[in-house]
Amino acid sequence: MSEKRDLTIRVAGEGGEGVVSTGDFMTAACARAGLEVYTFKTFPAEVKGGYCMFQMRTSDEPVYNQGDNFDVFVAFNGEAFELNKHLLKPGTVLVWDGPGGDFEPEIPEGVISYAVPMTKTSKDLGSYRSKNMVALGAVSTLFNVHEATLIEVLTDKFKKKGDEVLDFALKSFEAGKALGLEHEKTDPYAIVEGKEGRDNIVIAGNEACGLGAILGGLEFFSAYPITPATEVAKYVSAHIPKTGGTLIQAEDEIASLAQVLGASYAGKRSMTSTSGPGLALMSELIGMATMSETPALIIDVQRGGPSTGLPTKHEQSDLFLAVHGGHGDSPRIVMSVEDVKDCIHMTAQALNVAEKYQSPVVLCSDGSLAFSTQTVERPKPSDFEIVNRKRWDGEGEYKRYEFTDDNISMMCDPGVEGGEHVATGLEHTETGAPNFTPEWHIKNADKRFNKLKPLADDLGPQEVDGDRDEEVDVGIITWGSTIGVVREAIQRLRAEGVKVKGFYPKLMYPMPVKEYEEFASKCKKVLVPEVNYQGQLAFFIRAETSLDPISYTICGGLPFNPAQIVDKVKEINS
Ligand code: COA
Repeated sequence: MSEKRDLTIRVAGEGGEGVVSTGDFMTAACARAGLEVYTFKTFPAEVKGGYCMFQMRTSDEPVYNQGDNFDVFVAFNGEAFELNKHLLKPGTVLVWDGPGGDFEPEIPEGVISYAVPMTKTSKDLGSYRSKNMVALGAVSTLFNVHEATLIEVLTDKFKKKGDEVLDFALKSFEAGKALGLEHEKTDPYAIVEGKEGRDNIVIAGNEACGLGAILGGLEFFSAYPITPATEVAKYVSAHIPKTGGTLIQAEDEIASLAQVLGASYAGKRSMTSTSGPGLALMSELIGMATMSETPALIIDVQRGGPSTGLPTKHEQSDLFLAVHGGHGDSPRIVMSVEDVKDCIHMTAQALNVAEKYQSPVVLCSDGSLAFSTQTVERPKPSDFEIVNRKRWDGEGEYKRYEFTDDNISMMCDPGVEGGEHVATGLEHTETGAPNFTPEWHIKNADKRFNKLKPLADDLGPQEVDGDRDEEVDVGIITWGSTIGVVREAIQRLRAEGVKVKGFYPKLMYPMPVKEYEEFASKCKKVLVPEVNYQGQLAFFIRAETSLDPISYTICGGLPFNPAQIVDKVKEINS
């Protein structure tokens, strides 16, 4: 039976049935076995109950996105089956809870199915609680999910809950294995052997942002919990005490950014994390950071908007807010991350950028990436350069907003003799004294905007996926986690002989205009896929460059898959 090297398993059921744990255990087992993993999950806005799904894609080669569809679908209940049956294509596999579950599926034509009485077995063993462990046991034998590493991760997780919980989980797992072995395997799917000698870690996007912040020398963090950003704060809260830093859970998002600005004024590398609704509340204080030239990093883990919107669903719809949220001409730096590796390295980089340019920096992540667990090379602390703010050297008269060649003045921590100053939200002179004349307002506006102009060159060129000089039929420009989808789509299109390349900006604002135009000059057509309704990046491209790209948007709460991009390129290229 030919082994499929890239395997995608989806598990779905009711929140509270242990769907996420099932996925987490499979993921950890595959990663520990040296495989690449990329996970995606959706969970309900309700605090308990509601449809919950976890999908793991694994391979012995790099995996950039969740893929087009699953190969194996494990249905814990009838609702999950109904919501996913349209994806059960010929050749895919359905593992379903029966007999004894709450549904009896009509198996679609060509779909291979295995009935596993998860509910009945766990109840017979004494508790419904381990239905998911029965399922996991069956999946491990049916699809060669590394049993030894699975038992390792189960034990690591459940031993903290006591021997009774652990023993029952393991007994249920063994029962599930036996059920899996009862079936004659007629599908081609099995997890392949991993590659030895890789020093990888497996981490989700939000935790990776927290790790990047710690490695980036974070000293102060304040946040207010909000789905889907809270895990950034959870990670930082567990680790910042080890570095001597401070974390506060503020009473709301306004307070959290205010505390960040206060700590930054006091000389500390400071950040917060939030989602769209919180970023909207922060917009006035982002203006304060701009006016007072105070370094501050804000991680925005985007979700479906506007308002409360789709709290647990994916979208890339905060770009307008991130770039222009707030009144007045209020420049800030906006960057975005593609994957878990970026979450680590770009969070650290964004702290440096905030410090160096004395500016608020909004780093955009998104709902798909927040909870996506991926394999990434273990980061080495020595790889993380700490860039500090320009500080007064104590010479001569100190002027907080002194005009300089690079438009970046010297900061001075409070308490330094001769360095006393006011960091003000009022328009001001070089000393910070309030001044409302047109002359000072214009001079300082020039300063605030011009200091950011060197940033694009400072960060270096944005990535072109392909040969910069190659003339192609279609150029694809995208951002955030959609980049990973486009990478795979471009691989597939090139394999079919389509002349295509990609441009992946991560500095979103100020826009590296020259690079957009150079890229587009080699493309007959330019496509901009993004997950929002209005085509927000396409809007900025039209507003700031000479390009008029084709906007391709979806906004159903889910990320793109590679097939959608492939089909769209073929459609515009026909
Ligand atoms: N035996 C014992 N414990 C088990 C178990 C088993 N067989 N299977 C899972 N568990 C434990 C897990 O370890 C976890 O415990 P922990 O919280 O101490 O880690 C707990 O049961 C939940 O299991 P898990 O698999 O993680 O979750 P789930 O799939 O049952 O439900 C969610 C997932 C996300 C829906 C749910 O946990 C949740 O968080 N709901 C709130 C959703 C939300 O935040 N909405 C947004 C509001 S704005």
